[in-house]
Amino acid sequence: MHRHQQEQEPSGPIRVLSVASEMFPFVKTGGLGDVVGSLPAALHTEGVLVTTLLPGYPAVLDALEGPVRVAEMSPLPGVEIALLEGYAAGHRLLVIDCPSLFRRKGNPYLAPDGTDWPDNGLRFACLSRVAASLAQGHVPGRRPDLVMTHDWQAGLTGAYLHYDGQPAASVVQTIHNLAFQGRFPAADLARFGLPPHAFSIDGVECYGAVGFLKAGLLFAERIITVSPTYAREIQSPEWGMGLDGLLRSRADRLRGILNGIDTNDWNPETDPSVLFPYQVGDLAGRRPNKRAFQAEFGLRQDPNVFLLGLVSRLTGQKGVDILADIIPHILDDQTQLVVVGSGEVGMERALARLSRQYPDRLACHIGYSEQLGHRIQASADALLVPSRFEPCGLTQLCAVRYGCVPIASRVGGLADTIIDANEAAMASDVATGFLFSPVDGETLAGAIRRAATLYRQPARWAGLQRNGARYDVSWGRKAQEYARLFRRVLGRAEVGMTEFDQSSMRRRPPLAGPTGPAHSARNARASYQAARRGRVRANDPFGRPG
Ligand code: ADP
Ligand code: GLC
Repeated sequence: MHRHQQEQEPSGPIRVLSVASEMFPFVKTGGLGDVVGSLPAALHTEGVLVTTLLPGYPAVLDALEGPVRVAEMSPLPGVEIALLEGYAAGHRLLVIDCPSLFRRKGNPYLAPDGTDWPDNGLRFACLSRVAASLAQGHVPGRRPDLVMTHDWQAGLTGAYLHYDGQPAASVVQTIHNLAFQGRFPAADLARFGLPPHAFSIDGVECYGAVGFLKAGLLFAERIITVSPTYAREIQSPEWGMGLDGLLRSRADRLRGILNGIDTNDWNPETDPSVLFPYQVGDLAGRRPNKRAFQAEFGLRQDPNVFLLGLVSRLTGQKGVDILADIIPHILDDQTQLVVVGSGEVGMERALARLSRQYPDRLACHIGYSEQLGHRIQASADALLVPSRFEPCGLTQLCAVRYGCVPIASRVGGLADTIIDANEAAMASDVATGFLFSPVDGETLAGAIRRAATLYRQPARWAGLQRNGARYDVSWGRKAQEYARLFRRVLGRAEVGMTEFDQSSMRRRPPLAGPTGPAHSARNARASYQAARRGRVRANDPFGRPG
């Protein structure tokens, strides 16, 4: 692989540019947004300073506090942009202001009629091209040590660096979901600012198209995906989605690191969406939430009913069709289900129809609601995650923290984060949920029956909840793994910072604080100012030592 590394600072914080198409709390369509929004604060504790490069969607531009225009450029033929820098919700951001590509409200990828924006290729080529220019140091003072490119939308970054052949920061490509690869017509190659010879099997060509994620996987120094099991699965023809050969050839560069969740956002004691706050592990404290949730959804308020929940994109990946098929068989007057989700129109309609058919057992909120997404975890007894494949999955992590027991398929990150309640695990009191395989209606129904049986044995069920509450869902150790990998990529010592650097990093407040965006923003500013006062060049958002 072509390397672009420059001589690196041997110590001091690592400056990472995280390049992404969505970020919580500004724009989120799923777990990618959560991860992009919560990883920076955790990495900060490990001596990694993250700046996130985002497209200038209206929600991002509106959130930017005191934006400063740091550059103007024409990243692609006929495309003019301004690069803005500022803070938002405690995050240090660089934002691409390009009204013609990004000033569109709503879903970042879809037009109001639910189809892809026709210029998505150009939009995310622009994101990647700007990332590459930053990696090459074309914006003075903003060159990162390392670029973390998330999913296909940032995938071309490595290709631009490769074909430019200039010294640049290293690229680590993250796969959140191999099912989305960003393939665009070969005829657009020139619009994407790539040379004709890039269109080859050793370049961006992917099954006759320009493959953004393929390019990311080919040219990145390292590849991270979001669980060890998914890292193995995607090297098989069954789950490699056409890229398993490439992934096998890069196996020594591919690694699975599990996701964490923001345990400040996901704290049932302070969560504003939880009607009756309770401490993690307080099982009695959840009860009024279940009652209120049953009432909210017009279901019978009965504490003894086994209340199942589903919060998910309603797509084939998530196995929602498998669940819909067995709903008539698994729900009865002792088993209710609440669904919070949106997605494929066929699945939305099927669920809505079933809820009309079984109004006393099934209630649906078809749509996206962050509040209900939290409330369901504080209220349901068990969470269904019947995914056909799941790179990591976050909802099962939120569930165990909130005392809701996951019932999930044994795939990807679900297999890595849930300990099945089999006899051995129950005997040694380590089980946290239920896993089933193969992924079909019969095994899902079997797992739900197994769970219902245990639910009727309160002491054993409480054991599952307590084990779940103890399970570490935070970013802590995972962020350490990221930081270790970054240091290795940069050729720094395993523990790259001196004693002095480490203690000074710890003293700095985290980027995302515990009490909401305003507080977080203050922390971030204080942190930035502390960094500037200390060992860094004044106008450098990456905190480069001066
Ligand atoms: P994916 O990214 O594949 O959708 P994850 O489990 O990683 O799956 O993350 C999904 C995230 O999106 C979670 O934070 C989940 O709560 C949230 N989510 C999904 N659907 C909805 C919805 N309809 N309403 C609220 N939150 C949702
Ligand atoms: C993807 C995956 C999901 C993962 C999330 C964040 O959307 O489908 O499993 O948790 O990204 O990495």
